[in-house]
Amino acid sequence: MSSTETKPAARTVASTQSEMTEIILPNDANTLGNLLGGRLMHFIDLTGAMAAYRHSRTHVVTAAMDHIDFIQPVHVGDLLILKSSVNRAFNSSLEVGVKVWVEHPQTGTLLHVASAYLVFVAIDEQGRKQKIPALLPETPNEVRRFNDALRRREHREAETARRMQERRAQTARPNETGARA
Ligand SMILES: CC(C)(COP(=O)(O)OP(=O)(O)OC[C@H]1O[C@@H](n2cnc3c(N)ncnc32)[C@H](O)[C@@H]1OP(=O)(O)O)[C@@H](O)C(=O)NCCC(=O)NCCS
Repeated sequence: MSSTETKPAARTVASTQSEMTEIILPNDANTLGNLLGGRLMHFIDLTGAMAAYRHSRTHVVTAAMDHIDFIQPVHVGDLLILKSSVNRAFNSSLEVGVKVWVEHPQTGTLLHVASAYLVFVAIDEQGRKQKIPALLPETPNEVRRFNDALRRREHREAETARRMQERRAQTARPNETGARA
């Protein structure tokens, strides 16, 4: 861990809440005029990083982005609204939830486009991991997200351990199916 020995005072979820609104332009879209998935992931990453930055008040890097379903197309000319907040802070890492809506500019209708969970790690200018403040969930929804975030962390850790074991097993049997040429 870093030179920061004492953990800073806890912060509220409200203090991490962040929002971004983008108008979708042709440069963001595919040949049919629909927002590109990769561009949406970029906006999600940025909005997530804002919440992580507000919580940690130091540099953050994206360590993981969970599975995302794109449930609603977004077209050129639509307004994309992204909201994020920290769900739970651990030692140097924290989980952020990002929810995305599309606003139809003429009608003002709002539709849910995607949701994602991201993990950011706080680092200093030399890239050393930093201790971050604890998060204080205040409302019932914040408490629910706080508890769910721990379950997702345990799931991610189990998945990482499973993949590492699989990789080790493949290295031990390089001539079997699955080994790269
Ligand atoms: C993320 C990174 C700093 C982790 O470094 P590391 O030395 O592997 O860190 P550790 O194993 O000691 O883990 C540090 C923390 O990150 C978390 N973490 C690390 N990898 C993770 C992953 N893939 N998913 C979720 N959490 C992760 C750990 O759980 C730990 O959390 P805690 O301190 O809150 O308990 C490092 O892998 C890195 O720099 N990655 C590139 C990040 C980047 O450039 N992102 C932009 C996209 S390319």
